[in-house]
Amino acid sequence: MTRLQGKSALITGSARGIGRAFAEAYIREGATVAIADINLDRAKATAAEIGPAAYAIEMDVTNQASIDAAIAAVVEKAGGLDILVNNAALFDLAPIVEITRESYDRLFTINVSGTLFTMQAAAKQMIAQGRGGKIINMASQAGRRGEALVAVYCATKAAVISLTQSAGLDLIKHGINVNAIAPGVVDGEHWDGVDALFAKFENRPLGEKKKLVAAEVPFGRMGTAEDLTGMAIFLASAESNYVVSQTYNVDGGNWMS
Ligand SMILES: NC(=O)c1ccc[n+]([C@@H]2O[C@H](COP(=O)([O-])OP(=O)(O)OC[C@H]3O[C@@H](n4cnc5c(N)ncnc54)[C@H](O)[C@@H]3O)[C@@H](O)[C@H]2O)c1
Repeated sequence: MTRLQGKSALITGSARGIGRAFAEAYIREGATVAIADINLDRAKATAAEIGPAAYAIEMDVTNQASIDAAIAAVVEKAGGLDILVNNAALFDLAPIVEITRESYDRLFTINVSGTLFTMQAAAKQMIAQGRGGKIINMASQAGRRGEALVAVYCATKAAVISLTQSAGLDLIKHGINVNAIAPGVVDGEHWDGVDALFAKFENRPLGEKKKLVAAEVPFGRMGTAEDLTGMAIFLASAESNYVVSQTYNVDGGNWMS
């Protein structure tokens, strides 16, 4: 398939998990992809496993100089930037009375400021190029409603949905589509960590929370990173040119909006 033939993409946090699956999918569609991650060793290993259309970049989305350097590296390597996926994020969990300022600041700095200022840097580059572009932000079902133990992460993902709406409205005049994907529960290393946190705070054996959330998905199981790639390709391709400021649930039926 060649829906992204010749396109240059940057995916933050793509050394593993959902970002990695998106990188593989975009490359199958003809794109070159920067595996941009704070974990450079893992990004290099991932890029080497994916093949020559993938290349690793060290990037910390909380650091403006690192964001600017990553965009510059993509432009130098691939001749421009057509697709940004704001995928890097952190999760944490605590009852309201135990939330720390450190956890709040860390999650908002990565999940919200990281998304906004990476989006800004990419938009500047795309506007200068004058050929439009695609920006896809990773939201979550957590951004659609609160969860008793997940207040801060939920709030960051609600902010991502809101930023997607505003940025989409502002940037469409440049031919830049900004949209988001709201996954449900996606199995992988990220959810291994989530499961361990629930085990601690809800006093459960390891693995039990995963089974419970999987049983609640109308589709009948947790999602996989590959379950999200169809939407990620659609939102990066010309097929979504008339789609502006939307957040799509890809969650096996968990949430309807
Ligand atoms: N897994 C799920 O169930 C799920 C559900 C809903 C939404 N999401 C969202 O999807 C996205 C990807 O999730 P995932 O499960 O693949 O996560 P993950 O934890 O497996 O991967 C996150 C990646 O981000 C990188 N990263 C962390 N801090 C960074 C920073 N400051 N700068 C650059 N990179 C950094 C990590 O090194 C890691 O490679 C996230 O935005 C997440 O919130 C995931």
